[in-house]
Amino acid sequence: MAETNHFYETFQPEHYDIYIDINRGTKQIAGKSTITGNAVTKEVLIHQKFLTVTAVQADGVDVPFTVDNDIQGIRIDLAKTGNVTLAIDYQTKLTDSMMGIYPSYYQVNGEKKQLVGTQFETTAARQAFPCVDEPEAKATFDLAIKYDEQPGETILSNMPEKKVENGVHYFDTTVRMSTYLIAFAFGDLQGKTTKTKSGVTVGVYGTKAHKANELDFALDIAKRSIEFYEDFYQTPYPLPHSWQLALPDFSAGAMENWGLVTYREAYLLLDPDNTALEIKQRVATVIAHELAHQWFGDLVTMKWWDNLWLNESFANMMEYVAIDALEPDWHIWETFQTSEASMALQRDATDGVQSVHVQVEDPAEIDSIFDSAIVYAKGARMLVMVRGMLGDSALRQGLKQYFIAHKYGNATGDDLWNALADASGVQVGDIMNTWLEQPGYPVLTAQVVDGQLRIAQQQFFIGDGKDAGRQWKIPLNSNYDAAPAVFGDQAATLGDYQALRQAAGKPFRLNVGNNSHFIVKYDQTLLADILDHVDDLTPIDQLQLLQDFRLLAEGRQLSYASVVPLLARFADSHSTVVNAALYQLAGNLRKFVTPDSDEEKQLRALYDQLSSRQVERLGWTPKAGESFDDQLTRPYVLSAALYAQNQAAILAAHELFEGNQQQLASLPADIRVFVLRNEVKHFGNAALFDRLLAEHRNSADGGYKADIATALTATPDQDLLKRLIAAFEDADVIKPQDLRAWFRGVLANPAGEQLAWDWIRNDWKWLEATVGGDMEFTTYVPVIARVFHTPARLAEFKAFFEPKLNTPGLTREIKMDTKVIASRVALVEAEKAAVNAAVAKAVN
Ligand code: BES
Ligand code: ZN
Repeated sequence: MAETNHFYETFQPEHYDIYIDINRGTKQIAGKSTITGNAVTKEVLIHQKFLTVTAVQADGVDVPFTVDNDIQGIRIDLAKTGNVTLAIDYQTKLTDSMMGIYPSYYQVNGEKKQLVGTQFETTAARQAFPCVDEPEAKATFDLAIKYDEQPGETILSNMPEKKVENGVHYFDTTVRMSTYLIAFAFGDLQGKTTKTKSGVTVGVYGTKAHKANELDFALDIAKRSIEFYEDFYQTPYPLPHSWQLALPDFSAGAMENWGLVTYREAYLLLDPDNTALEIKQRVATVIAHELAHQWFGDLVTMKWWDNLWLNESFANMMEYVAIDALEPDWHIWETFQTSEASMALQRDATDGVQSVHVQVEDPAEIDSIFDSAIVYAKGARMLVMVRGMLGDSALRQGLKQYFIAHKYGNATGDDLWNALADASGVQVGDIMNTWLEQPGYPVLTAQVVDGQLRIAQQQFFIGDGKDAGRQWKIPLNSNYDAAPAVFGDQAATLGDYQALRQAAGKPFRLNVGNNSHFIVKYDQTLLADILDHVDDLTPIDQLQLLQDFRLLAEGRQLSYASVVPLLARFADSHSTVVNAALYQLAGNLRKFVTPDSDEEKQLRALYDQLSSRQVERLGWTPKAGESFDDQLTRPYVLSAALYAQNQAAILAAHELFEGNQQQLASLPADIRVFVLRNEVKHFGNAALFDRLLAEHRNSADGGYKADIATALTATPDQDLLKRLIAAFEDADVIKPQDLRAWFRGVLANPAGEQLAWDWIRNDWKWLEATVGGDMEFTTYVPVIARVFHTPARLAEFKAFFEPKLNTPGLTREIKMDTKVIASRVALVEAEKAAVNAAVAKAVN
């Protein structure tokens, strides 16, 4: 089938009247979707999925229709084209898929309760009501909801409630919007509200399993984020309210439904008195991300999913722009460097990766492009390059024009580039299309050849890669004026090196600030010069050096053994980002050693050498008034000391455990996970296991629950690991939404690897049935690929996954992950001896 069928080409909705009656007791849903719009063709197509359609009328008259499940649609035959009102009666079931209209389960004081909510992006609005479920099919919506309501329950939706009549809740007509952004939820909720300077009512809602003060942090961030965006975008928030709602069962992290943003509980609610700074930052950036979408995504929406980056890349950049403005002391761009930049550079180096702008048609394909490393992290880096080239003033001017031109409508990438070019005079589209339309990124080689300083670009690969001769227009951000601002050629000579070095008075560098999406390979001369002055570099530039070493080593352009002796130079840094990069690199050495071998002992000794002075400096418990850097660095060095099996560290953690036996949850949140994990690993038994599992079940604190999962999955005890795996399929113990983290924990534990691998292979069908409908499913494959590093596991991985190559949404993932493991296996085989010798030399 060559032509692509978008239903919008057959019918263009203007307005929906939607009535939905939901019964939690019987799990029955009955509804009627009345759609006024323009029939372009006599056969019109309306989306539906899992709906039983009982009648279709056009302008009040029954018309013939057929349900076509292959296209997730209803074919309706009309007598004529033109303006028409379709009325579609249907029934469906409330199911536990975390898609469409679905229940969330939770407990308050031992009593089981449920909350009903919705998740429609990308293509699940059609599971809730018949509609043209495509982003371009914008319309206004009148929603009327009835449910088996109990006294005291609350219902929320995109718009305020207009009236309640005979138990039916009627909501105000929405603005013109896409179907995937419709939302509602009801149940026994608690909430807090406030108002922005401009009069928008902002609220945070959650179940009553939470303490009321867990809503406060989010309320403050949400309010100030909206105020920030109204100013930054120069465009008012267009709805009367902005609700943030935490749902106990939630497939994604959070969802930007217009006016009713939904979140995982752990990404919205937190204990203001004892939550790790890292988690506070995550919650703040998640909120800022979803609220950025209220403009970028909701007010102006991508025309089709191929331009998903207009939503996600943009929101992913803006979450950092906003939080940097709201909490400048956090230096949140440093987190961008340690998480997003590193993720993007890693995945984008594998041949077969998709470009940021990517053609997609069917639903499974659409879901599979929400790739955190590409459309999020790489896409955000693209926009950071744009921001760097234009500056905030032209960027804001361009965005304002973009919103004026496309509000309540749709846009493509070119629409954005044109608006930005008009505002700045810079043809950013020309530059950015080289990044958006091509997969991968370049490594810049910088060399002194015959006394001349030369640079050249070539695509960088980890593992086998076919060089397709790709070139990028690269913002170089060099510290030498002789380097062009944007480098689009294959190679260039910048001039006489000695003269340039003399004039600049500092080592030659590219990508200062690490904001462009490329890495640099300096030759011996240039690298030696940089390393001689390494202390003059900013923390981010030191991180960059370590990051590029790591990637070049993964890509076999540098030997890991040559990197090992450099690590010690960074070990005493007081900067979080430097420590993050250092321990990421050190972590990469673990694949070269067999668990509990002599080689691993040497590696542990190296970790001890790197971390011991820092542990001494920082101590185990957070100190009043210490810097954010110290607070965020401590977890890295404690984790390293524990991997090192430093006896003092093991005992210090044990003492903290013993001293807080009665109130483990109130151990300082920044270090709690290490205390618990240490206890489980070295002093654990079945009683401790049972106790932690019970605390996990009874706690509503997302941070504490995650710490317990990390601790329990680290147990060396086979019987306990078996019990954990038995709980994987028991939603009362481990919710499907949290399962991936538990699975990863057991798989990454050498004592649990075989058990977890056996489980996923044996129960793949169960996994597919349970989480197959949502975005998490495909991400189990890279979780496995991150752990495996032996020829035997590579063979098993292939044997299991190759037959699944044709599963919708899995094809690219399986191909790429096979390559990821294969290249790691080859690397380990080739360099193991040299790396272990280098480690031994460093510690002896
Ligand atoms: N629009 C997405 C949520 C989404 C993703 C829905 C995939 C359907 C399919 C939302 O804005 C988002 O990006 N959520 C992130 C968290 C965010 C803060 C990075 C997520 O869910 O991972
Ligand atoms: Zn998003």
